[in-house]
Amino acid sequence: MAIQTVGIVGSGIMGSGIAEVAAKAGHTVVLRSRKQETADAMVAGLTKSLAKQVDKGRLSEEDRDAVLGRVSATDQIGDLADCDLVIESVVEDLAVKKALFAELDATVKADAILATNTSTLPVVEMAVATGRPDQVVGVHFFNPAPMMSLVEVIAPLTASDATVEAVTAFASACGKDPVQVKDRAGFIVNALLFPYLNNAVRMLENGTASRDDIDSAMKGGCNFPMGPLALLDLVGLDTSLSILEALYAEFADPNYSPAPALRRLVAAGHLGRKTGRGFYDY
Ligand SMILES: NC(=O)c1ccc[n+]([C@@H]2O[C@H](COP(=O)([O-])OP(=O)(O)OC[C@H]3O[C@@H](n4cnc5c(N)ncnc54)[C@H](O)[C@@H]3O)[C@@H](O)[C@H]2O)c1
Repeated sequence: MAIQTVGIVGSGIMGSGIAEVAAKAGHTVVLRSRKQETADAMVAGLTKSLAKQVDKGRLSEEDRDAVLGRVSATDQIGDLADCDLVIESVVEDLAVKKALFAELDATVKADAILATNTSTLPVVEMAVATGRPDQVVGVHFFNPAPMMSLVEVIAPLTASDATVEAVTAFASACGKDPVQVKDRAGFIVNALLFPYLNNAVRMLENGTASRDDIDSAMKGGCNFPMGPLALLDLVGLDTSLSILEALYAEFADPNYSPAPALRRLVAAGHLGRKTGRGFYDY
């Protein structure tokens, strides 16, 4: 099926980024947040982001107006009823996501596809929380979604080939480079990336090197655009902790066991860039 109208649920970093990507690719986008004011704030954020692109000459004023004309914001889940695809990007918590999938299943039209932007959680558990498990997949965008080219399309055991192909085609239509991956915690990227990030926190903890030297070593030595501690701050330390916990629960590999310093920062509410403080101050 061709995907035209896309619903986005969750008004955090990722929901906003995915909304921008989908709207710029010509899709009609319905943003749904639990509160109308946060849904409206997403549109305000999108307006600001597009204004910057106009200022830099990367987007025409006509295209900006057309993109904004395709986006609406709501606090009513019923407004997602006519979407062809709904992507949820709420907090990385399986119980919350399963409850949301059941609610979406009861709301959207019969042939709609439901997708999760989870970083690590078992997609199959969300699929079986619905009456349409063949129409549920993962669609994992990267942060910041407008800039990062990769999308992992995750196929749980229950998904039909047609669903996987439709969502892969949607990601391509959004200008992304999708890869298909089976439903294992961490998929491709986070399964390989998070032991590295976690071990960077351990290295800081055990005093091997300073924060700045760890980050600058990985930038200068591996040509990475940012160091591991700055990347954790960008991802969000709470999200990172949840990702490690899910990986550890699946594989029981000590490399995935969250470093104590990460837990303490999250307990203190220092969640990285989004709260102004993490490994760095912002
Ligand atoms: N941050 C990243 O780098 C990144 C990258 C790829 C995927 N993801 C995934 O995207 C999803 C969202 O992450 P984010 O970084 O945008 O998080 P965020 O903290 O910026 O936003 C989370 C959103 O979830 C909402 N929320 C919180 N509790 C809720 C509840 N009980 N019911 C409904 N909504 C609730 C919040 O209001 C907020 O809108 C997660 O599944 C995460 O794993 C994150």
